[in-house]
Amino acid sequence: MSKIRWGLLSTANINRRLIPVIRESARGELVAMASRSQEAAQAYADKWDIPQAFGSYEAMLASDAIDAVYIGLPNHLHAEWSIKAMRQGKHVMCEKPFALTLAEVDEMTAVSQQTGCYLAEAFMYRHHPQTKIVGELVQNGRLGRVTLVRGIFNFAFNNRENIRLQPELGGGCLWDVGVYPLSLAQYIFGGPPQQAAGHQWVGESRVDELFSGQMQYANGGVAQISSSFCTPWYTYAEILGTEGRLTLNRPFVALNDGQRKLMFYPKEGEPEEIAVPEKELYLGEVEDLHAAVLDGRSPYLTFAETRNHIKTVLALYKSAQTGQVISL
Ligand SMILES: NC(=O)c1ccc[n+]([C@@H]2O[C@H](COP(=O)([O-])OP(=O)(O)OC[C@H]3O[C@@H](n4cnc5c(N)ncnc54)[C@H](OP(=O)(O)O)[C@@H]3O)[C@@H](O)[C@H]2O)c1
Repeated sequence: MSKIRWGLLSTANINRRLIPVIRESARGELVAMASRSQEAAQAYADKWDIPQAFGSYEAMLASDAIDAVYIGLPNHLHAEWSIKAMRQGKHVMCEKPFALTLAEVDEMTAVSQQTGCYLAEAFMYRHHPQTKIVGELVQNGRLGRVTLVRGIFNFAFNNRENIRLQPELGGGCLWDVGVYPLSLAQYIFGGPPQQAAGHQWVGESRVDELFSGQMQYANGGVAQISSSFCTPWYTYAEILGTEGRLTLNRPFVALNDGQRKLMFYPKEGEPEEIAVPEKELYLGEVEDLHAAVLDGRSPYLTFAETRNHIKTVLALYKSAQTGQVISL
């Protein structure tokens, strides 16, 4: 096998980000898509010039025309369809959040290990050069001891039918975008927090439309994260240490839009803008699957990291519901 033949599971809006990068990648080709109806599948395949259209997810998974699937389903379906795909021998890139319970995470991990299929949470920003540079600066001690990671990801939308506002589908802003600063904090501190405390505002939708969380890590460092569906698009992160601070104005959407700026403010001396090589935001996760399947490389994101994301989200929700600080 020299190329991975991809299939898209559903007509999800997010597919539009993956389609060009699969095509742009050196070792991937987009050969099929599936929707819950043949008409929708065919219309989508025609629009995006995809060779094969399946009228059910099962039919595409049973086909030997594909090697890997991209799962952009609503959150409550991530575990079910990742498992079904791997049971059919397909490699899986599953959107964040990976799953909604730890039992689901553990079952998905076990099925990946039993079948030998690649499975990873599609946290595209973790593969971007900017995120890797930030990790190296922290590892190399440039910031000294990291004391605080702050991150925010907000946006607002008009369509109240959106999957993100449906509790039954795993909606809520912490699950949807709060997970980005949460995962950044875990990446910087090198593991899950020891304690988590959260506050939320639950709207008429019955999901959290505003969530703010604070976590403390083993070295005493603290993370403060927030997410919202109530305010216009805004994202930002900063990492503070005893020797200086880093600011990221595009931490999770490090798009090549000319606006991205990674700044280092040392304890003494002039601020420095740190150069970040350009790379298509969604390409790294696609290349990671290719390297794992074709070259036998380990996936960049580990199951332990993913499990800790979910464990921390669940602790934050429990804290917000009970008013207690939760020990992990
Ligand atoms: N990494 C990122 O940058 C990023 C960005 C956006 C979203 N996401 C993630 O991607 C996933 C999808 O988000 P999206 O906004 O693209 O979703 P979306 O446009 O609402 O699409 C979800 C698709 O799932 C299928 N589906 C199956 N059962 C469904 C049900 N009960 N209700 C609704 N849809 C159902 C539908 O496809 P068919 O009708 O064709 O079967 C639908 O088009 C989420 O997990 C989200 O967190 C990630």
